Amino acid sequence: MRILSGIQPSGTLHIGNYFGMMKKMIEYQEQGELFCFIANYHAMTSLSDGKALAKGTMEAAANFLALGLDPEQSTFWVQSDVPEVQELTWFLSNFTPMGLLERCHSYKDKVSKGIPANHGLFAYPVLMAADILMFNSEKVPVGKDQKQHVEVTRDIALKVNNHYGDIFTIPEPDIDDEVATVPGLDGQKMSKSYGNTIDLFQSEKQLRKQIMRIVTDPTPVEDPKNPDTCNVFQIFRLFLPQEEQAALRARYTAGGLSYGEVKQELFETVRDYFIPFTARRNAILEDKETLHKTLDMGAQKARYAASKVMRKIRKRAGLAY
Ligand code: ADP
Ligand code: TRP
Repeated sequence: MRILSGIQPSGTLHIGNYFGMMKKMIEYQEQGELFCFIANYHAMTSLSDGKALAKGTMEAAANFLALGLDPEQSTFWVQSDVPEVQELTWFLSNFTPMGLLERCHSYKDKVSKGIPANHGLFAYPVLMAADILMFNSEKVPVGKDQKQHVEVTRDIALKVNNHYGDIFTIPEPDIDDEVATVPGLDGQKMSKSYGNTIDLFQSEKQLRKQIMRIVTDPTPVEDPKNPDTCNVFQIFRLFLPQEEQAALRARYTAGGLSYGEVKQELFETVRDYFIPFTARRNAILEDKETLHKTLDMGAQKARYAASKVMRKIRKRAGLAY
């Protein structure tokens, strides 16, 4: 089975990204053929500082590699190193009804937050469809917020297939209900844009500060507490095996549990969980030459796969004459 997903290189990585997407991607390497890329074209819709984009791209690549992505076993590249995806975007645009894009929540949300409504932002889902369809992806692991974009991809693919015969594989979004939406410090979806994240790869001091900011209710220490409505528990459970989750749940319901104490335990757990990854990430970023070589190898593999699909499309569309 072919599994594909991408992550934007804008900003730091938080545990919502990690549990919502990256961890699963890395585990998928054992189950199928993994295609994974850094979506730097997508990031251009929110980032116009070239230096920051280039730096973010290298960091995002190092993050994935440090967290366990194996560039030999999988195909791992930077989106703009395979420019064929832009040609496919144009092809797909001609099969994308305006209404389909106008309905996209992500576009509407971004515009309502004051991001200028330009064509890049509007056409974003078509580029995402090109990413997915270019590689005959069957499964697309994403967070809940990206589900609609995979549905748009399916609609576009079906339209093309109806018109030209079966060119594209119809992909399925893959959303893990357990971690569908990781809550942030304030209980809303954890997101860079809400400033409510717990970040990976930061100093211990900063990490502790973020965790201590998690919003809790004013239930007195001695009273029983509800783990299902507690932001600390909802984040903590992501790091715990079933039995430990049950034990923590029991401490909540028994009463006598102080939120300060659980936050301290959560801090230590998060810190210890990411320590080995942080060391690896720093080493990868120090050796830029090897990192570039790794990304070049990935781009070559991805371009080879892309060129096969594009040959077929150019022929059907009448671009090969
Ligand atoms: P952000 O919302 O912080 O800008 P992105 O949109 O860059 O995050 O998300 C990158 C990936 O991580 C996507 O697949 C997205 O669905 C997933 N993701 C982001 N935040 C969460 C979250 N709170 N819970 C689960 N998955 C998430
Ligand atoms: N839009 C996705 C996000 O913001 C990133 C992305 C781009 C992606 N292309 C993709 C995810 C293709 C899955 C498949 O998170």
